[in-house]
Amino acid sequence: MFVLITRHGNLSLSLYFSVHAGGGGGNMTMRVAIASKLPLLLKPFILSLFLSLFVLLFLASQTPLHRLTASKSRSSSSGDLRIRRGYSSYDAYIQHQLNKTLNPKLQHLWTTRDWDRKVRVFSDFFQSLKRRGLLSNSSKALSIGARVGQEVAALRQIGVSDSIGIDLVPRPPLVVKGDFHAQPFGDETFDFEFSNVFDHALYPSKFVGEIERTLRPGGVCVLHVSLTKGTDKYSANDLYSVGPLVEMFKRSDLVEKRKVDGFGLDTEVVFRKRKNNNKKKQRTIKTN
Ligand SMILES: *[C@@H]1O[C@H](CO)[C@@H](O)[C@H](O)[C@H]1NC(C)=O
Ligand SMILES: *[C@@H]1O[C@H](CO)[C@@H](O)[C@H](O)[C@H]1NC(C)=O
Repeated sequence: MFVLITRHGNLSLSLYFSVHAGGGGGNMTMRVAIASKLPLLLKPFILSLFLSLFVLLFLASQTPLHRLTASKSRSSSSGDLRIRRGYSSYDAYIQHQLNKTLNPKLQHLWTTRDWDRKVRVFSDFFQSLKRRGLLSNSSKALSIGARVGQEVAALRQIGVSDSIGIDLVPRPPLVVKGDFHAQPFGDETFDFEFSNVFDHALYPSKFVGEIERTLRPGGVCVLHVSLTKGTDKYSANDLYSVGPLVEMFKRSDLVEKRKVDGFGLDTEVVFRKRKNNNKKKQRTIKTN
């Protein structure tokens, strides 16, 4: 924008203005020139009028761009993981989680009517993982957030005898006490880790970091997650794609992603911890 006031008191104002319309690249150039003898007092008025017009047009052209940037960042993978309502403290979060685990009605259901059906379904999942070479009888296996231990019972039933579960409330002999944000195990302990409680993690990157710490190099982690709908009121996060998982599993490669029907969880995601901490390999993703 150029403003020129001639020595005769004429005011000439040129306004160059470019609008980039929706990627089409159309440029609009507007030129306004006032060249007339104006009363002295009117000059600042006219000048400010054009300045305001320029600012308004500038803002109008910027707004859609801002919107575009915002919607782009929403669709990036980090936006595909949202942490739910804030808890006043970590203890308040644990108390809320315990409310589900210790619910007498649920406990009764889990250990009676629910037991056989769940053990059967988990056995099918684990047998399938065995067939795909991701689990074997000699694997040292961990189930994270195992509640009353159906996954562990299933693992032992199909021959993975060295298997254990952790949960906030112990359930001997299948489940020992442990918080998935700080697993009670040394580094590189397990060959295989399974969890269907990722949605309960208040700190998802800690949840993943602990898995990568306790897995042996070459070890396998299988997660059942929901990508399409919220799970329950005890969920602490919502996941909308595997992108955030791939970002958080820094020391592992994504091996598989497939649709499953796992008690309200629709996707099975498999990671393998790298043998050496090299850069990520080209990822191979199988879907069905
Ligand atoms: C746990 O449940 C009880 C009743 O069922 C409720 O009064 C309490 O507020 C709950 N606590 C949390 C932390 O959600
Ligand atoms: C694994 O254990 C199961 C159950 O004990 C057994 O039937 C199966 O043959 C074993 N598999 C191998 C490869 O040893």
